[in-house]
Amino acid sequence: MATTRVFLNDIYAPIDKELKDFSECLTRELVSNDQLIGDIHQHLLKMIGKFLRPALTILCSKVEGRYNPSAVKLAAAVELIHTATLVHDDIIDDSDLRRNMPSIHSKWGTEISIVSGDYLYAKAFVLLASLQDVWISEAFAACAHVICEGEMKQIEKRKSFLMSESEYLKIIHQKTAALFQAACMGGAYLAGTRQEVIENLGQYGFNLGMAFQIVDDCLDLTGETENLGKTTGLDIYKNDVTLPLLYLFHGLSAQERESLMMAIQRDGAGLFEKIKNLAIETKSVESAMTKARNYIETAIDSLQPLRESPYKESLALLANYCVDRIR
Ligand code: IPE
Ligand code: IPE
Ligand code: MG
Ligand code: MG
Repeated sequence: MATTRVFLNDIYAPIDKELKDFSECLTRELVSNDQLIGDIHQHLLKMIGKFLRPALTILCSKVEGRYNPSAVKLAAAVELIHTATLVHDDIIDDSDLRRNMPSIHSKWGTEISIVSGDYLYAKAFVLLASLQDVWISEAFAACAHVICEGEMKQIEKRKSFLMSESEYLKIIHQKTAALFQAACMGGAYLAGTRQEVIENLGQYGFNLGMAFQIVDDCLDLTGETENLGKTTGLDIYKNDVTLPLLYLFHGLSAQERESLMMAIQRDGAGLFEKIKNLAIETKSVESAMTKARNYIETAIDSLQPLRESPYKESLALLANYCVDRIR
């Protein structure tokens, strides 16, 4: 079946102006009098991400037609939190490449990147406080500690390839889906959206975030470094439990499992190709992608009660983009 690839620029078209304002706000927030901090921030501004979370905040703030311009500040705070998690995540994962550029970790080392990630978190929270809304401040502070819980659990559970699927799902809920959910609900809340619609958008964001991380896990095996802008195979290298690897391990006999575990511990050359091929042959990647598609369907269903608008349309397109993405 022929499919047309939808580009992010097209999906973002209805919020073009707001995304420009967001970008200016983010650039302003990253100005610093300190030379080193300024240099790091200049590097960060050159690393172009997909801006999914800020786009969600803005789209969700517009779905009911009562847009609040403060959504731009909220979107910048959301992107700052996300960037902080990436700076720290690249230390944890020993990752040299981010958004097709050297990671902060590889360019400035561990010590500087720890402080840089902390600085970005702090910046985000000052910006959030400037919105002078207790609900917003509480929601994003809670979200930040949930992300830390998820990252912590992932490290604690390395090598636990036989963990239950629900344990895995809880980790990705915490480390990834919670911010997608908060980004959507926060944008809708700021615009004075009806509670019922805020809840729907929260469900949309949660399900989208779950799918997004599962696809990310699959792309670590089957994606291309140039498209992703980050090195593939790192999850295997760090022994992180991802959904395709969890399915792979659950499907093996005790003996096969043991020999694969031994190969992983030895970390021999060619291991990535071996595991990748096994995960494909055993349909572990396919099953994980089916799970992601189910989350996307639920995300799109959550939009159903919303009135028709270009923003709603973009939210639906974004959900499909996230599951078919190559970057
Ligand atoms: C990467 O997120 C981190 C995960 C949750 C997998 P993105 O893929 O949205 O990162 P950027 O912002 O586009 O670089
Ligand atoms: C990171 O998950 C999620 C965060 C909250 C930082 P990953 O470790 O899978 O993200 P990538 O693959 O490095 O972008
Ligand atoms: Mg990582
Ligand atoms: Mg990943």
